[in-house]
Amino acid sequence: MAVDLLLGLQWGDEGKGKIVDVLTKDYDIIARFQGGPNAGHTLEFDGIKHVLHTIPSGIFHENAINVVGNGVVIDPVIFKKELDNLKKFNIDIPARLLISRKAHLILPTHRLLDAASEAAKGKAKIGSTLKGIGPTYMDKTGRNGMRIGDLEFTDWKSKYRALANKHEAMIGFYNVDIQYDLKELEAEFFQAVSALQQLKFIDSEEYLFKAQKEGKKILAEGAQGSLLDIDFGTYPFVTSSNTTAAGACTGLGVAPNKIGGVFGIFKAYTTRVGSGPFPTELFDEDGATMGRVGNEFGATTGRPRRCGWLDLVALKYAVQINGVTQLMMMKGDVLSGFKTLKVCTAYQYKGEKITHLPYNIASENVRPIYTEMPGWDQDLTKMSTAKELPENLNAYIDFLEKELEVPIKIVSVGPDRKQTIHR
Ligand code: IMP
Repeated sequence: MAVDLLLGLQWGDEGKGKIVDVLTKDYDIIARFQGGPNAGHTLEFDGIKHVLHTIPSGIFHENAINVVGNGVVIDPVIFKKELDNLKKFNIDIPARLLISRKAHLILPTHRLLDAASEAAKGKAKIGSTLKGIGPTYMDKTGRNGMRIGDLEFTDWKSKYRALANKHEAMIGFYNVDIQYDLKELEAEFFQAVSALQQLKFIDSEEYLFKAQKEGKKILAEGAQGSLLDIDFGTYPFVTSSNTTAAGACTGLGVAPNKIGGVFGIFKAYTTRVGSGPFPTELFDEDGATMGRVGNEFGATTGRPRRCGWLDLVALKYAVQINGVTQLMMMKGDVLSGFKTLKVCTAYQYKGEKITHLPYNIASENVRPIYTEMPGWDQDLTKMSTAKELPENLNAYIDFLEKELEVPIKIVSVGPDRKQTIHR
């Protein structure tokens, strides 16, 4: 049985959590493959809003097992908070949530290193969520990291000590003013590790391999978005993992020829949180309207998201890199009320019109060329079937499908599970 894959095609915050939640009824296993608590996956149903950071978005469904894969980095402190938040829902967590022994641990000093690195960069900062993601992946690839499996051995605290001591020395090298009380952070960390140790640690690649053989349906859940990919994103303003389709293979141990559907999620416009280039960014009333109507604030940091028109050059790039087989368009409802919609279909670059993503898409290099389309006024949020969608929205969708050469199978018209239109 093939493994389907769901990922974001822009700069994150596309609404992956909502769609994973909508699709989970058709799957036996939801497996998160990269990133860490820098993610904020928002789900809404029965009038309650849930934000998950590390726990896969299938956790609210009784039919599914949720796996945190080897490609994920886990902060026990945040993980424990997520577990505590779930307590009131009476979910049998130990039975439904499994963690890869090969997933790496975010230590308190990783978070401090993140803060020191960003402070030292000054104006050139990445705009990191400061969750310790970069330093943890650096330790992983530098072969210094601590993994979940280490927690099953009695000497894990001495490993921890050695690494934390090294980090403290490194923080000193940055020569910036970072205030912290490591004793306090460690007390919280050790308590959270004890909570984590109550859960089942598994060899997730073996578990998923067996599940495939048994014909179980698996959905791999990505975090962040393709334009934040460490290799293919807008480097260095990216995150530290492979957010693209290949990341599901390395982040779960799934062979490339076992990947089935690749579901690409995108917003009907574009947002970005943190620093870095964003060719279609708006600084006018239209951008402010998208931010206000779309409630565009980071689910993890609360920072306002930068907003702009849909960038088809970037989206096409993401569709190609991921081999997307079907698209899901989010937040169509937010565009209701715009008289004219703009879609970037090419860039002006070094005096030429180009339709691919060049090496550097900073605004001094790239100017978006727009195609304009008429907007619609209707409120979409109460609509539940494709037949109800306004004509101009259908024209917008048709245009995107033609440009991207991939069908748009879901149109989301609000944050709730029910506000999802299948086409
Ligand atoms: P980091 O991964 O926390 O180091 O952040 C690196 C960049 O990726 C920053 O611009 C963040 O704002 C952005 N980023 C990280 N995670 C997310 C996410 O889940 N959604 C949107 N942006 C993110």
